[in-house]
Amino acid sequence: MRIDIITVLPELLKSPFEASILKRAIDKNLVSIHFHNLRDYTTSSYNQIDDYQFGGGAGMVMMIEPIDKCITKLKSERDYDDVIYMTPDGPTFSQGIANHISLKKNIIILCGHYKGVDQRVRDQFITREISVGDYVLSGGELAAAIVCDAVIRLIPGVLGNETSALTDSFQDGLLAPSVYTRPSDYKGWKVPEILLSGHLKKIDEWREEDAIKRTEERRPDLLE
Ligand code: ADE
Repeated sequence: MRIDIITVLPELLKSPFEASILKRAIDKNLVSIHFHNLRDYTTSSYNQIDDYQFGGGAGMVMMIEPIDKCITKLKSERDYDDVIYMTPDGPTFSQGIANHISLKKNIIILCGHYKGVDQRVRDQFITREISVGDYVLSGGELAAAIVCDAVIRLIPGVLGNETSALTDSFQDGLLAPSVYTRPSDYKGWKVPEILLSGHLKKIDEWREEDAIKRTEERRPDLLE
């Protein structure tokens, strides 16, 4: 998978890809990340990327021209499956959307700033909008990092144990069950006996029940 990220603040986005699972995925050539600084696509002498909004009102708007130049250049080099715009007024990100995007080959992610982008960018270029939640960040970069992380870990070969993404919370519409590791008795706080029994069928049943119980308690909306 190839991800092209269009941003005015590439430095804000670099570190998540320099550590841990995302770095390993890049090192294994399972994904490549390419940053494009919008300021490299400006025509004005002082690299302007935003301007006052027509009709008046507080807040600057990202101009269409640098974004058009950048997206058009990328599209002339390869086909893209999705051009995603990170914005708080988009549909809320979910495991289902992450699963869907993880099957794509080439995607562009555009990070918004200020009051957002000129609406014509959204009308002409964007195929999917994503919000990471009902709160406003200073820009789309951290939201893009969340989307990239959730998507990349689903690409086959990225996680060591293939089954571990399938047993994540939300994959079956439930939260994941409780987990325990050694020691089995710590200060008298014991691990549920069944998990030590070696009885795989009973353990699976216990996990299923625990997942349902947790979901009922914490996220009843998931069961509706
Ligand atoms: N940009 C600013 N806030 C955002 C959010 N909640 N989701 C995605 N992009 C954003």
